[in-house]
Amino acid sequence: MERNLALEVVRVTEAAALSSARWMGRGNEKAADQAAVDAMRRAFDAVAISGTVVIGEGEREEAPMLYIGEKVGTGSSPEVDVALDPLEGTSIVSQGRANALSIVAIAEKGGFLHVPDIYMEKIAVGPKAAGAIDINASPQENLYSIAEAMKCYVEDLTVVILDRPRHSELVRAVREVGARIKLIQDGDVSAAIATAFEGTGVDVLIGIGGAPEGVLAAAALQCMGGDMQACLKPRNEEEVELALRMGIRDINQVFNIHDMAHSSDIMFAATGVTDGDLLKGVRFFGGGARTHSVVMRYKSGTVRFIEATHRFDKKPIY
Ligand code: FBP
Repeated sequence: MERNLALEVVRVTEAAALSSARWMGRGNEKAADQAAVDAMRRAFDAVAISGTVVIGEGEREEAPMLYIGEKVGTGSSPEVDVALDPLEGTSIVSQGRANALSIVAIAEKGGFLHVPDIYMEKIAVGPKAAGAIDINASPQENLYSIAEAMKCYVEDLTVVILDRPRHSELVRAVREVGARIKLIQDGDVSAAIATAFEGTGVDVLIGIGGAPEGVLAAAALQCMGGDMQACLKPRNEEEVELALRMGIRDINQVFNIHDMAHSSDIMFAATGVTDGDLLKGVRFFGGGARTHSVVMRYKSGTVRFIEATHRFDKKPIY
């Protein structure tokens, strides 16, 4: 893949973030998401790829745009698979809370695990704790192993967990070990990525969240040398069927990071929609706005933070 593609892709996440950020705090999740989807779809038309959406807004019947299987890009080479979430954290934006992102990852064909929009259990860490996680082990065992790898006390670790009733036992177990906990309302992709950046103060993500979000997190952590394991958590037979139809052979399979995102080149771009642990949200000013993005590339290991100033009189209105 042409390396400049990573910088092309960030235009796409910037466009989606700029559009959805207009809906911050306005209590309208649907409108925030639609704005991101419309802008992302339009922005893809200028990217020189022959892309196929493999992680997207849903099945064709339920999502008119950026659905699984949709072709995006100008149609010129290279042929790539695209994993995207125009707005990760729809309710975050509607309520004006932290850590909403617009995300696109691309890889060579077959580079991403195909999963339906069902739940997935995940454990994710940054590069220092790579190799120290085992999703089949208890939270206690994982936290001691992570602390050892990170050369710190288990009490020094900060574990991010989605604040859901399903996690009450997990929270209890982590508290028993003595690690610190950051309960979040939404946005576990942002939390997973944050584990790979020291300045965020986040060390581990554990718990059950969306499966498509899991693949996006794996793409980012692959670029950073982080680690992740996951297992699908269907809630009924219908969800099992969905997963099998998408090519999952064993519904109980533990996926490692390579199963979820594997390619000789992965590019990952995310733009902050609202302020977060890693990225600032969109800031509007008279006639324009500023965006903050991160762009990563697996092949080179490069991580770029891009602060962009957009002038609405000179750029397309997304
Ligand atoms: P959306 O952007 O689709 O609203 O997802 C937000 C999110 O918090 C994800 O980050 C997370 O993986 C998932 O929802 C958790 O699902 P649930 O809200 O059903 O617990």
